[in-house]
Amino acid sequence: MLQIDLSGKRALIMGVTNRRSLGWSIAARLHAAGAELAFSYQGERLKGELEKLTTDIPNVRLYQVDVTREDELKALFADLADAWGSLDYLVHAIAFAPRPAMDGRYIETTRDDWVTALEVSAYSLVAAAREAEPLLTEGGGIVTLTYYAAEKVVPKYNVMGIAKSALEASVRYLSYDLGKKGVRVNAVSAGPVKTIAARSIPGFMKMFKRVASMSPLGRHVEHEEVGNLGLFLLSPLAGGITGETVYVDAGYHVMGMDLGED
Ligand SMILES: NC(=O)c1ccc[n+]([C@@H]2O[C@H](COP(=O)([O-])OP(=O)(O)OC[C@H]3O[C@@H](n4cnc5c(N)ncnc54)[C@H](O)[C@@H]3O)[C@@H](O)[C@H]2O)c1
Repeated sequence: MLQIDLSGKRALIMGVTNRRSLGWSIAARLHAAGAELAFSYQGERLKGELEKLTTDIPNVRLYQVDVTREDELKALFADLADAWGSLDYLVHAIAFAPRPAMDGRYIETTRDDWVTALEVSAYSLVAAAREAEPLLTEGGGIVTLTYYAAEKVVPKYNVMGIAKSALEASVRYLSYDLGKKGVRVNAVSAGPVKTIAARSIPGFMKMFKRVASMSPLGRHVEHEEVGNLGLFLLSPLAGGITGETVYVDAGYHVMGMDLGED
């Protein structure tokens, strides 16, 4: 079996709450491939869980960063510059939309909720990439996580779908900005996976069941499969791929119609 060896490489993973987080799925694969890891978490209440999760990772670095706080973001990258000097990989696994914006009709989204969802879920990638750029001296890569609702209407996903569209467009523009330095930027578009963020989407369980019945593979994707795609896109095996949104969704997005059971 072809092995991916990332020993000597350094990765920052932003957005891990617990072992079900997709950021953790990618982190676990990066760790298994030999990369040194740093994590950022949103706030004090998430620190204990992340400390427990990462106890067995040697030399791990943990930072508290709310991505709406420019000062916290800058402090993180300043400390990484001191400690590591350079960075190889950035994993962005962050999204948020206020619950009322996902409960009703998209047309009713308030200005504040729209701005919050776009700021946290899309602009944060741009801000993090900008801070990371001076450290990405050896090429390397950035991966973020997106969802099919960026492309097609998924009822209830509402403003988060618009945020994911902005995120995917940002991946393309960032790939252009950073491509000359040999830095690749890609998005992993994952099918529904049970995580804290997913469970906060109204009707998530309905979506979850439907995907398994409609997708060509007739099942859901596993956390590990999302992790594998993240690892692949960051690794030299994906050396010619940038600006791309790659699906890991058991093929759901290729279906145009569901005829139900025969
Ligand atoms: N779970 C799914 O079905 C699914 C499918 C496709 C894409 N995604 C995407 O995967 C990414 C990770 O989500 P997840 O499903 O693993 O859930 P999760 O709840 O484990 O992770 C979301 C993370 O975003 C962080 N976050 C939210 N607001 C923040 C802020 N202001 N500052 C810093 N961090 C903040 C949370 O603290 C959390 O760690 C998200 O972008 C999500 O949209 C998830």
